Parts: sequence; C-alpha cells; structure tokens
Amino acid sequence: MNLLILNGPNLNFLGIREPDVYGTQTLKDIEDHIEQYATKLGHHCTFFQSNSEGALVDRLQQAHMDEVDGIIFNPAAYTHYSYAIHDAIKAISVPTVEVHLSAIHARESFRKESVVAPACIGQISGFGPTGYALAIHALEEKSV
Ligand code: DQA
Repeated sequence: MNLLILNGPNLNFLGIREPDVYGTQTLKDIEDHIEQYATKLGHHCTFFQSNSEGALVDRLQQAHMDEVDGIIFNPAAYTHYSYAIHDAIKAISVPTVEVHLSAIHARESFRKESVVAPACIGQISGFGPTGYALAIHALEEKSV
C-alpha cells in the first residue's frame, strides 16, 4: 500500500513536549521506525507534519490526487474542533485511521471528543508510537 502518515500541530516538538505524556522519542525517531516497519511489510510511506490546519487540508486533498491507499493521521489538537479536517477526510474518501499517542479518553474532558473520528474508519489511542503500527494493520485488513 501507498501510505500517508500525517501529524498535526506541536507533534514536531515530540521529545521536548511533555515527555511524561508523549514520551521521549522525537517525531523523526517515530517516523524512522514506521518506515522500517512498513517497508518490511511491503508498504511505501510518505510523511508530512504541519502546525497549520490549511496545510493539513491541502495535504489530504493531495492524497486524493496521488491515489494514496490509506492515511494514518494524528490531527493533535485539531482532533477536538476542526470541522475543516473532518470535511477534507470525507471529501477524499481515502481510508483514514486516527491515531493518538496518549489515551485521549482518559485525559481532560475537552480531549474526549473527536470531531475527526466520524470521518475515519477507526481511532487508536493510548499506545504511544505503537499506535501507528497498529494503524498499518487496520488498513491492511480494510484493503483485503
Ligand atoms: C494527541 C492528543 C491531543 O489531545 C493533543 O492535542 C495532541 C496530541 C496525542 O497524540 O495524544 O497534540 O493527538
């Protein structure tokens, strides 16, 4: 599969940002690990991170043009209020898995709601960087 791994705002600060919540690995560490893992399974990965909602919407639309087979997306704080990201995922009809490093349902109440999840095939939360690998398996299951 041709996979797009998207990460939203402040995830470029992984390793620096609240390590007790998000761990000590940098985004580059996580991406390198996903790439190795996905390559062994025969998949091709493209990575994109942005702090900007519009750039994430543009990248989702680009995924439609590029005929991406699946998207693994941690929308970060946009999860909780971005209808633009919800609409973009619906618009492109590429199967998308929402991933969160932390257990969003066990945190502050504003994190329990995802306005993005209803546009996705599922949500994985609370397993740290392993969540991205679990999302690859979810997409494999969907594509058979
Ligand atoms: C996050 C959870 C969000 O609530 C938060 O705004 C993030 C990271 C996670 O991966 O656990 O930035 O998406």
